[in-house]
Amino acid sequence: MKKLNVGVIGAGFMGKAHVVGYSNMPKLFWPAPAIPVMKTVCDIVPEIAAEAKDRFSFEKSCTDWRDIVNDPEIDVVSICTPNNVHAEMSIAALEAGKHVLCEKPLASTLQEAEAMEAATKKAAEKGVIHMTAYQYRRIPAVCLAKKFIDDGSIGEVLNVRCTYLQCWSADPSSPLSWRFQKDIAGAGTLGDIGSHAIDIAQYLAGDIDEVVSMVKTYIPERPVQEGGVDLLGTVKLGADAQKAPVDVDDEASFLARFKDGAVGSIEATRNAWGRNNFLTIELHGTKGSIAFNYERLNELQVCFADDPDYCRGFKTIYTGPAHFYGPATWNIPGMNIGYGELKAIEMFDFISAIADGVQPSTNFAVAAQIERVVAAVLASARDKAWRKV
Ligand SMILES: NC(=O)c1ccc[n+]([C@@H]2O[C@H](COP(=O)([O-])OP(=O)(O)OC[C@H]3O[C@@H](n4cnc5c(N)ncnc54)[C@H](O)[C@@H]3O)[C@@H](O)[C@H]2O)c1
Repeated sequence: MKKLNVGVIGAGFMGKAHVVGYSNMPKLFWPAPAIPVMKTVCDIVPEIAAEAKDRFSFEKSCTDWRDIVNDPEIDVVSICTPNNVHAEMSIAALEAGKHVLCEKPLASTLQEAEAMEAATKKAAEKGVIHMTAYQYRRIPAVCLAKKFIDDGSIGEVLNVRCTYLQCWSADPSSPLSWRFQKDIAGAGTLGDIGSHAIDIAQYLAGDIDEVVSMVKTYIPERPVQEGGVDLLGTVKLGADAQKAPVDVDDEASFLARFKDGAVGSIEATRNAWGRNNFLTIELHGTKGSIAFNYERLNELQVCFADDPDYCRGFKTIYTGPAHFYGPATWNIPGMNIGYGELKAIEMFDFISAIADGVQPSTNFAVAAQIERVVAAVLASARDKAWRKV
């Protein structure tokens, strides 16, 4: 079976998630489209790079990402670093003929995202695959929602209501990591998790045409975190810790008109005590409704207008072997998948795209379109007016 040598750049939260995905993919999906080999891991922090080599069974580690991009033995590059370096790394990897899986958001500015999209044109002519890690659309229950929409089961989609709510930054003593710095992150909650909400909303209801928005920063300064991985609110720094300003949004909310005619709303915040990974989408159509919540990711709620009156209301479908990716995961409905299996599904789609020579559904062009929505949301909040995407 064909093997593909993988280089992972950035060995924090997502570095680990990509390794879990690559390593488990052939265990779940067999025959696998190819076997990923953990070749080289890179982190700018030498201790993190060295630890990741041992912990994740890489053959080598390095601290300069160019050592991966310029290595002729590497076939595939996973970019798991903060957002401001995605463009430079992705463009160099594409030019070097490597298949690239870049974490989301695609970049920290729309200009960078569009440069990345442009760089895929030449690379794709040579068979190079590009993908962005919008994994939530690959959840079997979300795929089932898409099937119900595409086959007309809920009729014409009228309304889309989508939220992504977390609480890890609600505590003001949680540190000012890279996620709270505009020059590294680009946008705050909007780019970080709002982008996922935009992705599943556009996946299910088509592209957004125009938006009107509000963005808000609740905690204007935070204790400084010096480099390393974002500790995602787990470190509470004392009152005497040095503080610096937050220059990104804590929360973004917007109304949207979709090109296909639906209207809807999207809300994202990391300051919602009690909400942990509350990514929800509800769609109302002329013939039924669908609702999904990541905190119960194996379930899809459906209601069809032609259900008998005495059955009116949502019913729960438990995804399992009968559903998308089901035969590859666990063989009884209700055994359930979680984030680890989802990253293996993502790697199955990425490695299959390489094997088949077909660009995946979350390619850089799709991710750049999300950046256009993000830019329109920020412009609308600034101008207090509807903005075209
Ligand atoms: N798909 C998802 O659900 C999801 C979830 C979390 C994060 N992300 C995205 O993944 C990316 C990384 O986020 P994270 O949570 O893993 O961050 P993190 O802070 O946990 O880890 C980032 C790592 O990158 C390293 N790094 C920074 N600059 C580097 C450079 N120039 N070269 C090499 N290494 C460098 C850091 O030292 C750190 O170890 C971000 O773009 C983020 O938005 C996606």
